[in-house]
Amino acid sequence: MKIAVSGKGGVGKTTFSANLIHVFAKRGFNVYAVDADPDVSLGATLGLPADELAALRPIIEMKALIDERTGGGGAFFTLNPKVDDLIDDFSIKQDKIRFLRMGAIKQGGTACYCKENSFLYAVLASLLLDKSDMVVLDMSAGIEHLTRGTARGVDLIIIVTEPTRVSVATAKVVQKLASELKIRNIKVLVNKVRNDKEKEFVRSQFTDQELLGMIPFDEGVLENAVEEESGLLAGSGVMPGIDEFVDKILGA
Ligand SMILES: Nc1ncnc2c1ncn2[C@@H]1O[C@H](COP(=O)(O)OP(=O)(O)OP(=O)(O)O)[C@@H](O)[C@H]1O
Ligand SMILES: [Mg+2]
Repeated sequence: MKIAVSGKGGVGKTTFSANLIHVFAKRGFNVYAVDADPDVSLGATLGLPADELAALRPIIEMKALIDERTGGGGAFFTLNPKVDDLIDDFSIKQDKIRFLRMGAIKQGGTACYCKENSFLYAVLASLLLDKSDMVVLDMSAGIEHLTRGTARGVDLIIIVTEPTRVSVATAKVVQKLASELKIRNIKVLVNKVRNDKEKEFVRSQFTDQELLGMIPFDEGVLENAVEEESGLLAGSGVMPGIDEFVDKILGA
């Protein structure tokens, strides 16, 4: 199952992605953890070793490698089966988790950039997955990254929002776009909820069907982010209720 996590800046996309990855791995799934945000924070949030993260080459560099081998051009699409071998050199493996980072996805509409962007997502689309393998894609804030290319093969998009008017408005824009891109399953996850008034506000904005659920504001989550190294994989700073969300996702 391929899951994309999207939403406005700072709402908790990376924290939620890391929590999903942690729980999937704990339950025995092979998880591809993909940092699609050029700001690269997923690896650190998971608590992967800083030196390995610093040395990890982004997938975008794989394109140069393949271009070199094939003399450039669009030949890569015929190389899809080889991507799985190549991916070993571009990932950090820790127990059940395989961590990849996409690298800077350039802005702009030139053909050249388009090629690079579509390369990144074609790599994802071509991963040879078992039925039980999970892919969690931590996307960058904003909607410009959500395109037909990036949506390809995504089974579920989780739109993270805070319980505020502005954040909810962004979530609705993403919801609409995701449905135009024909992503099959679109869910909203409300994060950092502090009180009943906020819960009520959220319920006035989304149907039960649309909501994956709500996560309270949690000091432990915030503290874990302040620590020198994240202890998430060891179980500290886990989002409250994350196991139930995973149950829901797996049942969906
Ligand atoms: N439920 C929560 N309770 C308390 N703090 C939280 C919660 N969820 C996330 N945070 C904190 O909010 C901050 C932003 O979270 P995070 O980096 O995951 O957001 P993001 O959406 O990925 O941001 P960006 O758009 O910059 O990538 C972090 O300090 C994180 O620890
Ligand atoms: Mg982030």
